[in-house]
Amino acid sequence: MAEKITKGIILAAGYGTRLYPSTIVTSKLLLPVYDRPMIFYPLNVLIKGGIKDILIIVSPDHSGHFINLLGSILEKYKIQISFKVQSLPNGLPEAFILGENHIDENNVALILGDNIFENDFSSEIKNFKSGGHIFVKKVPDPERFGVVKLDAGGQAEKIVEKPKDWVSDNAITGLYLFDHQVVELAKTLKPSARGELEIVDVHNYYLHKKELALTIFEGEWLDAGSHDSLLEASLTVRDKKITGTFDPMLDEAIAEYCEKQKSLIKKRIS
Ligand code: TTP
Repeated sequence: MAEKITKGIILAAGYGTRLYPSTIVTSKLLLPVYDRPMIFYPLNVLIKGGIKDILIIVSPDHSGHFINLLGSILEKYKIQISFKVQSLPNGLPEAFILGENHIDENNVALILGDNIFENDFSSEIKNFKSGGHIFVKKVPDPERFGVVKLDAGGQAEKIVEKPKDWVSDNAITGLYLFDHQVVELAKTLKPSARGELEIVDVHNYYLHKKELALTIFEGEWLDAGSHDSLLEASLTVRDKKITGTFDPMLDEAIAEYCEKQKSLIKKRIS
């Protein structure tokens, strides 16, 4: 069993209903955040973490769009991108069930496709060994998120999903590192009252085993799920020059792909 994280999963199978009409015919993750489609931001987090085998979980309606954009863009760079369809958004832990063959006996990083981070988490990803690891940021509206209460030593003590009463303002963001146990664990989970498998149940499993590590960070954490937050995300990415910190190899691949497409179009119209 490998210790280093070699497998990544991007969850990209939502329907982005809050962004209608922009997402009626395509995925939220293919809309631009500043100068590139949103999917490139989580892809960058995994690539910077040294992960070369990435599964993108997509909805049946949008699978072709993702393949058109990402199907061959990284081939030359020895980064494997594969796709799997999630028939309905049944909850985040379903990623580990759909990704069972992809994960195999390895550790895995899961990232939500609409989460954009300013921080570089590559050392956490590269140094991960076992258990679980979450990334936590203080927010003004903790009732919207899964939150983690810390003990006096700064370790995770209690995790609560969307707390009605104040527990903590440390929100758990959309990047998670887990060891291979997560696959069997995900298979045992039961849907919650809202009918979804819940990532908080995965966190609690590792917490109770005292195997849940965390990183608290202060940089930007942008979710681009509403019209206003999508616009804000673009402005923040531009103002904080977040695309300037992209992995140079990914940047090169994107630029090459643009040039290739441009010359194809030129040929077609000449
Ligand atoms: P959400 O923001 O919960 O859902 P959504 O993106 O479909 O948006 P809306 O609420 O406007 O309809 O999902 C967060 C991210 O996780 C997003 O990238 C979609 C993804 N996701 C899946 O791929 N599968 C799932 O089962 C769930 C729950 C989310």
